[in-house]
Amino acid sequence: MRFDVVTLIPDMFDALKGEGVVGRAINRGIAQVELWNPRDYTTDVHRTVDDRPYGGGPGMVMKYQPMQQAIEAALAEAGPANVVYLSPQGRRFDQQCAKRLAESRRPQLLLAGRYEGIDERLIERYVDEEWSIGDYVLSGGELAAMVVIDAVVRLLPDVLGDADSAIQDSFMDGLLDCPHYTRPEEIDSMSVPPVLQSGNHEAIRRWRLQQALKRTLARRPELLEDRQLTAEEKTFLAEISAASGDAKQTQEQ
Ligand code: ADE
Repeated sequence: MRFDVVTLIPDMFDALKGEGVVGRAINRGIAQVELWNPRDYTTDVHRTVDDRPYGGGPGMVMKYQPMQQAIEAALAEAGPANVVYLSPQGRRFDQQCAKRLAESRRPQLLLAGRYEGIDERLIERYVDEEWSIGDYVLSGGELAAMVVIDAVVRLLPDVLGDADSAIQDSFMDGLLDCPHYTRPEEIDSMSVPPVLQSGNHEAIRRWRLQQALKRTLARRPELLEDRQLTAEEKTFLAEISAASGDAKQTQEQ
């Protein structure tokens, strides 16, 4: 799957391209990440990529022409790509979006803005979707573009080992993950929950689901509202709520 990124700081992508899951996917020919710098498409001696905003105010805006030429160059090589602008004004990027992209395999052209953003006419003319990775303001869209690429690439077939994929596709989908432990069995007076050493796969599955539900209820209850709960999940949630009610009562006594 191909990703093209329009960015003023292509060097930021060195680590993403060279290391870890994405780096390996690139080496194995499963993913491709190409970078396009608008500064290479400027025509003035100062290689100007930004200018003051119409209407005044602080900050600078990325100019239309160098961005447009970088976009056109990328599209000429990538073919008809889905064009995405990363900005805090976008729709929230989540696991469902990542899955949708990974399944589509369509080339993605990601536009990473700097400063106050890009000239709105670029969005009007080229952008299909605008995404935010969270309700905070980054200094530019590069980190957001890398988040999107990483989240999508790890879902492509054969990128992760079998073990990882199995976990991803299991019942944990849409819930926060359960706790994990590795050797030693005891450290600093803390031990591994005995069920995980029981060898009883069904008991382990149930414990993991209970833990995932408990965490999700405590930390991100809204995730449960959007979820079609199974009968088993409903039972576990009722038990968890009853137990926490009991704990509260004991505290109050
Ligand atoms: N650019 C700056 N902040 C951003 C955010 N939160 N998400 C995506 N792109 C951004």
